[in-house]
Amino acid sequence: MPVSPSPLPASDRLRFLTCGSVDDGKSTLIGRLLHDCGQVPEDIVEAARRQSPAGATGPGGLDFAYLLDGLEAERQQGITIDVSYRSFMTPRRAFQVADCPGHAQYTRNMATAASNCDVAIILIDARKGLLEQTRRHATLCAMLGIKDIAVAINKMDLMAWSQATFDVIVRDFSSLSDRLGFLSVEAFPTAATLGVNLVTRQGSPDWYVKGTLLDWLERVEVSRKARSQALRLKVQWVARPDQDSRLYLGNLSSGSLRVGDTVQVGHSGQLAQVTSLLVAGVPSHAAQAGDPVAIELSEHVDLTQGDILCGQTPQPDFASQFAADLIWFDATPMTPGRTYILKGASGWVTGSISRLKYRKDLESDRENAASVLGMNEIGLCNLALSKPMLCDPFATHPTTGGFIVVDQVSNETLGAGMIRHSLRRSANLTPVAATIDPSARVARFGHRPLVIWLTGLSGSGKSTIAKLVEASLWAQGVATSMLDGDNLRTGLCRDLGFTDADRVENIRRTAEAAKLLHQSGLVVLCALISPFQRDREMAKSLIGQADFLEVFVDTPLETCITRDPKGLYKKALAGEIPNFTGIGSAYEAPLEPGLHLKTNDASPEALSAIVTNKVLSQIRG
Ligand code: ADX
Repeated sequence: MPVSPSPLPASDRLRFLTCGSVDDGKSTLIGRLLHDCGQVPEDIVEAARRQSPAGATGPGGLDFAYLLDGLEAERQQGITIDVSYRSFMTPRRAFQVADCPGHAQYTRNMATAASNCDVAIILIDARKGLLEQTRRHATLCAMLGIKDIAVAINKMDLMAWSQATFDVIVRDFSSLSDRLGFLSVEAFPTAATLGVNLVTRQGSPDWYVKGTLLDWLERVEVSRKARSQALRLKVQWVARPDQDSRLYLGNLSSGSLRVGDTVQVGHSGQLAQVTSLLVAGVPSHAAQAGDPVAIELSEHVDLTQGDILCGQTPQPDFASQFAADLIWFDATPMTPGRTYILKGASGWVTGSISRLKYRKDLESDRENAASVLGMNEIGLCNLALSKPMLCDPFATHPTTGGFIVVDQVSNETLGAGMIRHSLRRSANLTPVAATIDPSARVARFGHRPLVIWLTGLSGSGKSTIAKLVEASLWAQGVATSMLDGDNLRTGLCRDLGFTDADRVENIRRTAEAAKLLHQSGLVVLCALISPFQRDREMAKSLIGQADFLEVFVDTPLETCITRDPKGLYKKALAGEIPNFTGIGSAYEAPLEPGLHLKTNDASPEALSAIVTNKVLSQIRG
């Protein structure tokens, strides 16, 4: 998860978030809490009073939800998404409350907030009981390591303070919290608009004898997670006191550090000794987890802001495959096989979800088989990365065990993950070096290798043109190979259908096969619809831009429907083939193809000659 730049919370500072569905009364609860703690200046109360709708039930017609708008939110920068924090104090404790909207599409904000908070208040509307959103938010809190929960069963005044209603909701929540593994759960009957059981007990029913929400916030002891003893230091600043020296500042998120210790850089494994150490600005011999430190190292290592320093024992786990819980935020589903950027504590790397093991059904807590994760869904996945990264389990390394999933093109945050464990299989693989040097292959074949990727609608003429190109290249002494979509689907890809997820996998396999043939020195013709821009980009980056020629076989849909060489459009239009490209499934035309062939304007022979000439100049030029 996104990592906060702030130091770990001290025991006299509590960070909490409130979660719940949209209308459960979150803003009112926070507004009332701040107001009743005497933290809201009178002019802001007045302004909020003027904005409040007629009939608001607070003192002097104030709607407490309007108080928050008037208060300047303190912005803190997470890696990706801003969540605003409001600070307030009582004589016992200082608080920061994370303010994040409750709509389903803001799950990402809620997750960001939860990753930075110590405890959570889960709001439940007494009239509605546990909703799916309650379960989702509780699950997210648990996944992000929150162990202590206050359940505010709100709007109890509208249920005539019915103890039976309260008890039923408490019971429902306990069965959920048992499964989620919270360590302490406390429930409060509240009426946020009236302020009952927030700061004072005034108006509380006789049957409720325990304290207020504020009592709980002031006294709750944060159950610490079983944190690892392994050294992790995230560098937050590199200072240069003079020309030669560098001072690395950051917080020790776990482990301890002494002068003379050997440390290693998370992303490169470079080693150096700690030559001097400051804790909170004071020269020291040793530092503990939670300490703000500044260190000097014996070597000039490649270490900048955001990098992680590790110890040597236990040896940090670098892996290119691992299992992780994933929460998906985006409207476009997470699709296994698709290439994404993964940003973790130690940097970023490209990778894909190699397998979705299950999707969690929040209602029943069951683990269901699924091929994709939709918006706000949660699942357990295996991931495969293009290169190894520091792989800390989130349970023991909350600062370094999380990552976010980012779209390669738009740079949007699509999801967030919590690492469970690395998959040993990646560590047991040793790539075998090539026996034949690529230059020897070029000398033998008399040309450089190339991948020609023909994309276009079904029936656009990809295979026809590819066959003509191959014949003419072959005739001119070029060593070629053909990967045709229809043929692959009878063998290597015969287990795949035409859902988006299956197409992504189809293209991944074809691209991997093309890569092997390309490495063998051949000119490879790939002819498949490959309808998605992102996946063609993935193929290009797998092969390497210089050796990849994207050819757009551009035939308008109407022409394909008229030609209909296999009779498939007829069936698709009659509703007999679901997900048929151009009919029930999208085709994203290439934005900047290497060659753009308009088949309405020229014969296949003429178009194939254009391709052949371009290829020959590229591989022999
Ligand atoms: S891709 O989308 O995954 O790249 P591919 O090129 O391998 O598709 O296979 C497309 C061929 O499968 C089409 O030429 C057509 O013969 C056949 N086909 C069967 N069902 C579909 C479908 N739903 N959409 C597209 N093509 C289909």
